[in-house]
Amino acid sequence: MFKTKFTFARARAIILSMNGNLLQIERLITRWYKAFGIDHVFHDPSCIKKSARGQDAPAVKVEDELRFSSLDELRHAVFNLDHPLKRTARNTVFSDGDPSSDVMIIGEAPGQEEDEQGKPFVGQSGKLLNSMLASVGLSRDDVYISNILFWRPPGNRTPSVEEIAFCMPYVEQHVKLVKPKVLLLLGGVAVKSILNTSESISRLRGSKSKYLGIDTIATFHPAYLLRSPNQKAVAFRDFISLKKLLSR
Ligand code: URA
Repeated sequence: MFKTKFTFARARAIILSMNGNLLQIERLITRWYKAFGIDHVFHDPSCIKKSARGQDAPAVKVEDELRFSSLDELRHAVFNLDHPLKRTARNTVFSDGDPSSDVMIIGEAPGQEEDEQGKPFVGQSGKLLNSMLASVGLSRDDVYISNILFWRPPGNRTPSVEEIAFCMPYVEQHVKLVKPKVLLLLGGVAVKSILNTSESISRLRGSKSKYLGIDTIATFHPAYLLRSPNQKAVAFRDFISLKKLLSR
């Protein structure tokens, strides 16, 4: 008999936790197909009937998950992506800093200056980030920085769930290839997307978790700290935790 701990209730709970994010659900189902050894599926219900009658029916190949063997390959793929945001942005913003660094920092999405220069965190938020790093003895050259989104959302609006879901498989590959010792997540969008949670940043900041086996710390986004300077002291504690994790 086929035995599994994977129950219908568990599958339903996982899908419900994705809050209707169709791309994320699609990726999950693809993973399940693979796990169950299914390599072709029918997209059209009429094909199921045809196939049951022994007739030829077109089946669609289950695509493999994204996999890149180097950072250059991933960068090349990201620069060649097609997405509506790319049409309103000036540049694709991939990363900045040292990819062999122990620290990888992930923010939300490029702002206006980042879009203009094609580099993450070069505007006001970036300046504050640099000084928070300096406060624990780290310089910009000691870290590697990227974002959840590769393109600036028009008017700096909050990224949509679909935009995040589109970029996340690439972000996941990015983290796997950089393999930092510690991952620092800046702000609610990065934290919720990476840790796959709907908890607020105020609850999650300061907490330590693991992403792909990597020590991960969440803290406030520098743009929020610019608006709420009284929270800087709290965020400073998170940078101290980062430094401690690095020296372990
Ligand atoms: N805010 C972000 O989240 N990322 C940037 O690159 C700049 C501002």
